Amino acid sequence: MRSKIVAGNWKMNKSYQEGLQLFSEIETLLAKQPSSNAKAIVIPSFIFMADFAKQAKNVAVGAQNCASEQSGAYTGEVSALMLKSVGAEYVIVGHSERRSYYAETNAVLAKKTEQALQNSMTPIFCIGETLEQRNSNKHLDIIKQQLSEGVFHLSAEQFKKTVLAYEPVWAIGTGVTATSAQAQEIHAFIRKTIKEKYNEEIAESCSILYGGSCNAQNAKELFACPDVDGGLIGGASLKAEDFVKIIHSF
Ligand code: 13P
Repeated sequence: MRSKIVAGNWKMNKSYQEGLQLFSEIETLLAKQPSSNAKAIVIPSFIFMADFAKQAKNVAVGAQNCASEQSGAYTGEVSALMLKSVGAEYVIVGHSERRSYYAETNAVLAKKTEQALQNSMTPIFCIGETLEQRNSNKHLDIIKQQLSEGVFHLSAEQFKKTVLAYEPVWAIGTGVTATSAQAQEIHAFIRKTIKEKYNEEIAESCSILYGGSCNAQNAKELFACPDVDGGLIGGASLKAEDFVKIIHSF
């Protein structure tokens, strides 16, 4: 069976003290009521990660980004090796905010994915269309292109260690979530595309998360879709009770 995953992407939120408090609340709630069906991942700022990873018992810790290069003169960048060395197990690659605000192309993201895998971390590779692309019926082509340019250079062995997240840009932070039918349609399309590139076994074992206004109220319905294997949660991951409720939606 595919791994079920609920990951909280904190984005650029919380001071260290606030973050530590939130992290401790999540740990306490999960210690009382462990998550038996889904893996829980907390993805805070880079600079909180080393500290959180040392304290983590019921969650894994991940990063929101990593450098596309291995090491060297890249002022301000954080390498995959650095992240791994302080306890990160996952790295988000290709979030739509990185793609649009920081002009990250599929070619750069392909290198970041490679870096994560070379350093024994699981990339959570994000794909998804804008509203304009959906309205002009280009969404399936866009998703296919993001996959083929961002992750389909990977060997089958590497791809097996990769997690995907479908995050329609129009649903991120807007309160407008994809309906479960819309999510299922795209997730099934993604799985079919993986099968065409690799094979059925690899397609069936790939965890595909949904992200975009997923919350404690709608998670159960979204997660009930046969091809939705979890969630990448933004806003609702900043409240311990809501985040843990989403984890327990499986
Ligand atoms: P929201 O849950 O706030 O819509 O954000 C989703 C997201 O971008 C997670 O990576």
